[in-house]
Amino acid sequence: MAAEPLSVPVLAWYERAARDLPWRQPGVSAWAVLVSEIMLQQTPVTRVLPVYAAWLDRWPTPADLAAAPAGDAVRMWGKLGYPRRALRLHACAGEVTGRFAGRVPESVDDLLSLPGVGAYTARAVASFAFGQRHPVVDTNVRRVVARAVRGQGNAGLPSATRDHAAVEALLPADAASAARFGVALMELGALVCVARTPRCPVCPIAERCAWLVAGSPAYDGPVPRPQGFAGTDRQVRGLLLDVLRAAPGPVAQDALDVVWPDPVRRSRALDGLVADGLVDPLPDGRYALPR
Ligand code: ADE
Repeated sequence: MAAEPLSVPVLAWYERAARDLPWRQPGVSAWAVLVSEIMLQQTPVTRVLPVYAAWLDRWPTPADLAAAPAGDAVRMWGKLGYPRRALRLHACAGEVTGRFAGRVPESVDDLLSLPGVGAYTARAVASFAFGQRHPVVDTNVRRVVARAVRGQGNAGLPSATRDHAAVEALLPADAASAARFGVALMELGALVCVARTPRCPVCPIAERCAWLVAGSPAYDGPVPRPQGFAGTDRQVRGLLLDVLRAAPGPVAQDALDVVWPDPVRRSRALDGLVADGLVDPLPDGRYALPR
């Protein structure tokens, strides 16, 4: 007899163990799903929750956000980090409003044409918001598949082609189950098959996990390079944006200079924010969030 598909125990586990997250509620709009996915790209769920709620309260539809200045989006983004995502989401709202009559498009290709929407986010929205059958592959899913299927403790370097094919091979045939399985696999990676200390004793697929069955061998293959100095530059950029967000209007250079002692790093961070369109230098020498 053929083995039971991996999706069966994973879906059963998801039914009893999944977190009750607002973007997974029935009837949530595609726009809300898109907002959640962009916020969740590099930020943990607990930090996203309050910003997500406030954001959709203020801008329930793409047209609402498109009508606001980009600087309001940067301000509302708060401390989620990687604030270029706020600008891209704002641009995305403009495109959905202008090119798609205010409705988030359903096809992966149309979704991919939107600012800030890459291979992961396009498939996540097509699957979670529109119930389509696509491999939805984030770092959590890559780790689950590396362990359960390939017997490797770490997912190693990403490869969209290989990663999509590996997940595609696990998807149930019908679209609704495939979409549910996509989020279930992600949840398994977030809650059980975590990077450092996986909770194998409570894992629904422990007995068929190639990595566990092999005795959880240490991984010695290639891993993505850490970010290095970019981390500190990001910190300084964050501190500069904090000052601008807290101010009711434009701020003087002095107010920005206090955030970091090293002028070289500080001006590099400010130049970077200006180049990214997150900060506008005004003719009078002050700085403002973008209009
Ligand atoms: N549910 C749907 N997408 C998610 C994500 N990116 N992170 C956590 N939970 C999710």
